Amino acid sequence: MDLFEYQARDLFAKHGVPVLAGEVIDTPEAARAVTERLGGRSVVKAQVKTGGRGKAGGVKLASDPQDAVEKAGQILGMDIKGHTVHKVMLAEMAPEIAEEYYVSFLLDRTNRTFLSIASVEGGMEIEEVAATRPEAVAKIAVDANEGVTEAKAREIVAAAKFPAEVADQITEILQTLWKTFIAEDALLVEVNPLAKVADGRVIALDGKVSLDANAEFRHADYAELEDKAAANPLEAAAKAKGLNYVKLEGEVGIIGNGAGLVMSTLDVVAYAGENHSGVKPANFLDIGGGASAEVMANGLEIILGDPDVKSVFVNVFGGITACDAVANGIVQALELLESKGEEVTKPLVVRLDGNNAELGRQILDDRNHPLVQRVDTMDGAADKAAELAAK
Ligand SMILES: Nc1ncnc2c1ncn2[C@@H]1O[C@H](COP(=O)(O)OP(=O)(O)OP(=O)(O)O)[C@@H](O)[C@H]1O
Ligand SMILES: [Mg+2]
Repeated sequence: MDLFEYQARDLFAKHGVPVLAGEVIDTPEAARAVTERLGGRSVVKAQVKTGGRGKAGGVKLASDPQDAVEKAGQILGMDIKGHTVHKVMLAEMAPEIAEEYYVSFLLDRTNRTFLSIASVEGGMEIEEVAATRPEAVAKIAVDANEGVTEAKAREIVAAAKFPAEVADQITEILQTLWKTFIAEDALLVEVNPLAKVADGRVIALDGKVSLDANAEFRHADYAELEDKAAANPLEAAAKAKGLNYVKLEGEVGIIGNGAGLVMSTLDVVAYAGENHSGVKPANFLDIGGGASAEVMANGLEIILGDPDVKSVFVNVFGGITACDAVANGIVQALELLESKGEEVTKPLVVRLDGNNAELGRQILDDRNHPLVQRVDTMDGAADKAAELAAK
């Protein structure tokens, strides 16, 4: 989960990384009072989860409260690389910036370790520096058990060739930044720029933090950091029902049991769609091993509630949960939805195979639901579902 800059700033402040004051607003007029509180001037910064805001015109200096209102008005509603700006952060204006550095910690999956990246040439051109002069960017592995001790921090400072007059401050900042990284279960903490300002202080002027969603269970505060406005409503509804669902941009709703089977179902449907006006899978949904009627009903409810869905492909390979149980689940799920007054109007293609497949198919045949079609091969069922979606 990526955070907004203002949320990263709050986490930095909590763990002792030096930051400037900042407040978030969502209307231009609110910039006046905030800028007054910040000392009469402010930096107006678009809050979007993408890089290159400054270059896109999403970071502007305001010389007085009225100017801040105008700049906030220009930035709010702006589109930055497909992200609409709904909030801006007003930051205290830093004293004159002498130098801009770059520091980060991240999980380096390739090398199965943590990595620190640091450069004395930070700022908005860091990507350019990394691409054209990689020697200006130091990369030092951090052992997960040792972490960033003072000695490790000094090693990073030396490798990146930070000037002597900021070495102590940056050694300290690297340790507090590491503390943030570990305590918050982050996958990335990045400061760019880490600025040396006129009075000699080194301050984090911009931050990016990405948290590890797998650690959600031990962070009650993660939920508050979620951007609920940006969350897909179907995904949010599925999450509330405990379903493993991802919305995709297609027309064929997919339900399957087992992540591997569902992944390959997405592939065969996309492939079949090539012969049917290019229809694609509308979602990923794994209802897992013990697919009860209730879980099936919950899954169908989410998928049938997706206005993009034109047909549904239920692809089940019976294992511990046998196909007759799944077939009963489908029948009961349709009855459950109809009894709740939800009109089921989209065709369902069901493929059952594996444990007790014959029995499961018989149950569907006996029920003879007008919207349910049984196709016994995965490719055949994918083709039928794509054909129905293309109609
Ligand atoms: N509080 C501040 N006071 C003075 N100048 C600032 C402040 N915040 C940012 N700046 C200046 O604006 C530049 C761009 O800001 P920032 O790094 O936050 O955005 P960005 O790098 O363009 O965005 P992103 O990191 O998303 O690419 C900084 O390099 C710095 O020179
Ligand atoms: Mg930046």
